Amino acid sequence: MTNDTLLRALAREPTDYTPIWLMRQAGRYLPEYNATRARAGSFLALARSPAYATEVTLQPLERFALDAAILFSDILTVPDAMGLGLFFADGEGPRFERPLRDEAAIRSLAAPDPADRLRYVLDAVREIRKALAGRVPLIGFSGSPFTLACYMVQGAGSDDWRALKSMLYARPDLLHRILEVNARAVTDYLNAQIEAGAQAVMIFDTWGGQLSHAGYEEFSLAYSRRVIAGLVKQAAGRRVPSILYTKGGGAWLEAMAASGCDAVGLDWTVDGASARARVGSRVALQGNLDPAALFAPADRLRAEARRVLDAFGSAPGHVFNLGHGIAPQTPVESVAALVDEVRTYSRKLRAAIQTNA
Ligand code: CP3
Repeated sequence: MTNDTLLRALAREPTDYTPIWLMRQAGRYLPEYNATRARAGSFLALARSPAYATEVTLQPLERFALDAAILFSDILTVPDAMGLGLFFADGEGPRFERPLRDEAAIRSLAAPDPADRLRYVLDAVREIRKALAGRVPLIGFSGSPFTLACYMVQGAGSDDWRALKSMLYARPDLLHRILEVNARAVTDYLNAQIEAGAQAVMIFDTWGGQLSHAGYEEFSLAYSRRVIAGLVKQAAGRRVPSILYTKGGGAWLEAMAASGCDAVGLDWTVDGASARARVGSRVALQGNLDPAALFAPADRLRAEARRVLDAFGSAPGHVFNLGHGIAPQTPVESVAALVDEVRTYSRKLRAAIQTNA
């Protein structure tokens, strides 16, 4: 592989600089993404076509010196393959036609065979790997069993997840049944992505931070741990690292680091230095610039990027990222400035360490 900096950082091996990629790096802040999306007709048409998915996956790499590609897809393809009927109403977020509201629907829920209902995603993985030709590694991903359950029960995004929380407290047995099916579905899906060519995988637990302290272990982490334990760990002679990201999970870093994952993804509320002190050298850490810093003038943005790099320090095992997905309104020039600052400053940090040694 031409650039395996990401995989080396995830393995906590020394690198010449801190690798960087951005959550939602292919998306609406890029005019070329919007043009392809218009040609495809909709977001779902884009995601369901391996050719279009390949095209938009590579778009951010043509503009910026990023160290990874991430599969262009969505976490909600899995519940869609379970028959819940994913759709996007114009100008709104994702919705399901048939959310899980009654016991019968939950009892008949089953994990889909990824080679069948999710074949278009696996075809996209294969096509993207071909198009990348070893330039940078490809990251595959899935939602966590809990975050998928949030959408499956609620039927849409929510501020308070009231339907989901009501089930959690009134009928925890039903929620556990959904989570068991999801854990199997996510394990099979990620393993199928690895088999198709994904070189690292990330579990997005976007809504785990909505849980209570006890609830996080019982309803989220226990099932992500089960997924991680079931993952294929090696492909083409190399470790396939897993990254576990929980938005709002700062209170539970030690538990996340002990889940069996290779790296923990951090949102912007966590200080890099204290995160490193808390988890020790057990895992790599990924993050965690506030995505809103990309709206600042370039000199302020560059200072914030240096602050993140200084916090994590130059010990091996940091992957630079945002603390959450990039906003559609983000100026393209800000992303260019960020990637440049991370590359240049992290090289300098390492050179300084070597001179002092
Ligand atoms: O990072 C990448 O570049 C890969 C692509 C990716 C998408 N969704 C594309 C997408 C990834 C990794 C996701 C994950 C995802 N999807 C998550 C977990 C990560 C996170 O952001 O917390 C969640 C919760 C979803 C569910 C989802 N899909 C929502 C809430 C939305 C609407 C968001 C919005 O900004 O409108 C989507 C749609 C979606 N998924 C878009 C993209 C680029 C926007 C669709 C469009 O073009 O209209």
